[in-house]
Amino acid sequence: MSIHFRKFLAASLLVTTVCVQPIVGRTAVDPYPNGCVSCHVLDKSKGKDERLSVALQQWTAGKIEPGLLAKSKASAPAGLTLKGKHPAADDSLEDIPGACLDCHDTGSKKAPPFSRLLHLVHLVGGTNNAYVTTYKSDCMSCHKLSTQTGEWTMPSGPEK
Ligand code: HEC
Ligand code: HEC
Ligand code: HEC
Repeated sequence: MSIHFRKFLAASLLVTTVCVQPIVGRTAVDPYPNGCVSCHVLDKSKGKDERLSVALQQWTAGKIEPGLLAKSKASAPAGLTLKGKHPAADDSLEDIPGACLDCHDTGSKKAPPFSRLLHLVHLVGGTNNAYVTTYKSDCMSCHKLSTQTGEWTMPSGPEK
C-alpha cells in the first residue's frame, strides 16, 4: 500500500466517523429510553427483581440495606433525622421519578434530594458499585440530551 493511499484511507475513515456518528450515535439506540423504569426491571432469566416498587415495599417495612441508609443520611437536608423507614408512597409509583421528586426535589427539607442521593447511589464506590462497573457511570441512562436543542430532560413514568 502506498503512503498516499494510506493517508487517503485514514482521512476518509475520519470523515466517515465524524459524519456518521451523530446519526447512529447512542441516542438512536438508547437501551434505557424511559430512564429508571427501563433499568430497574424484573429479569426472570437472571432471577433478579430490581423493580423500585419491590424495593419501596421493603423500605416502607423498615428494611433498608445499611449502605443505602448511610447514603440516605449523607444526602439528607440539614436538621432532618431519618427514621430508617420510608413513608407510604405507593401513589408515586405511577410516575418514577417525577412523583418521587414531589418529596425528593433539590430544595427538599423533608427527604434526601434525589440530585444528591441518586448520584451517591449510582456513581460512588468505584468497583464496588454495580452501576459504575456495569453501566460505566453513564449520565445518559437517566439524563437525556436532545441532539437538536442541547436540552437535558429526564424521562418519567410507571413500571411496566
Ligand atoms: C441503566 C441502569 C439504571 C438506571 C437507568 C437507574 N438505575 Fe438505579 N441502580 C442501578 C444499579 C446497577 C444499582 C445498584 C448500585 C450499587 O451497586 O450500589 C442501582 C441502585 C439504585 C437504588 C438503591 C437501592 C437498590 O434497590 O439497590 C435506588 C434507590 C435506585 N437505583 C433508584 C433509581 C432511580 C429513581 C432511577 C431513575 C432516576 C434509577 N435508579 C436509574 C441501575 C440503574
Ligand atoms: C411522601 C414523600 C415521599 C415520596 C412520594 C417518596 N419518598 Fe422516598 N423518602 C421520603 C422520606 C421522608 C425519606 C426518609 C425516610 C427515613 O426517615 O428513613 C425517604 C427516603 C428514601 C430513600 C432512602 C432509603 C430510605 O427509605 O430511607 C430512597 C431510596 C427513596 N426514598 C426512594 C424513593 C423513590 C424511588 C420514590 C418514588 C417511587 C420515593 N422515594 C417517593 C419521602 C418520600
Ligand atoms: C440514576 C440516575 C442518574 C444518573 C446516572 C445521573 N443523574 Fe444527575 N440527576 C438525577 C436526578 C433524579 C436528578 C434530580 C432531578 C430533579 O431534581 O429534578 C439529577 C440532577 C442532576 C443535576 C442538577 C443538580 C442539582 O443539584 O439539582 C446535575 C448537574 C446532574 N444531575 C448531573 C449529572 C451528571 C454529570 C451525571 C453523570 C456523571 C449524572 N447526573 C448522572 C439522576 C441521575
